[in-house]
Amino acid sequence: MGIQIAPSILSADFTNLESEIARIDGADMVHVDVMDNHFVPNLTIGLPVVDAIITKTSLPVDCHLMIEDPDRWAPGYADAGAQNVTFHAEAAAAPVRLAREIRRLGSRVGVGFRPATSLDAFEDLLAEIDTLLVMTVEPGFGGQSFIQGCVPKIRRARGMAARSGFDIQVQVDGGVSAETIEQCAEAGADVFVAGSAVYSADDAASAIDELRSLAAGPAHHL
Ligand code: DX5
Ligand code: ZN
Repeated sequence: MGIQIAPSILSADFTNLESEIARIDGADMVHVDVMDNHFVPNLTIGLPVVDAIITKTSLPVDCHLMIEDPDRWAPGYADAGAQNVTFHAEAAAAPVRLAREIRRLGSRVGVGFRPATSLDAFEDLLAEIDTLLVMTVEPGFGGQSFIQGCVPKIRRARGMAARSGFDIQVQVDGGVSAETIEQCAEAGADVFVAGSAVYSADDAASAIDELRSLAAGPAHHL
């Protein structure tokens, strides 16, 4: 599928979501961060708002569920029509059962990993998964700085994906910016979530283009 830029609306103006999503219409996906104040110390939006976003935008919606008990709640986001539903490895009680349910409902499946969580338990389960989400900040807030120590995990995720033989995306989320995106791409990421780097720019469209060009590597720079 190639490089994808997925701006996170966590850094958008929540009172003007429709126009804020229109600012990123040159992106590949819209990344929606669902937080429940339990899995992370922040509370954002839930299914009714995600449902409204899916209805309004023509962009594919990528739901990043930073919630407890995704076994119970994640299928609702697939049922609502999210293109991708990512739950966290640390939170799912039965990740294979949940992954199969999300696929059955028509969405792609992502598994997210906090910075201190190893990928190892999923190495033999990649047939069930479409996306490995490597967090490069502790989840919970936008605008944090990139954790350099997570880069080797991006590389391991890409290695695991390649060895599996399945077509698996490696998504990176947290502190992704013009300063950090190239090393993520070099380590093997192909889906790049960026919140503040896109939404704090005056021109979100050119911020997206710049990130895409940097991720594509030196041969592709504008
Ligand atoms: C953090 C969220 C991210 C966040 C990224 O927990 O999962 O998607 O919006 O924001 P930036 O790009 O500002 O680090
Ligand atoms: Zn996210």
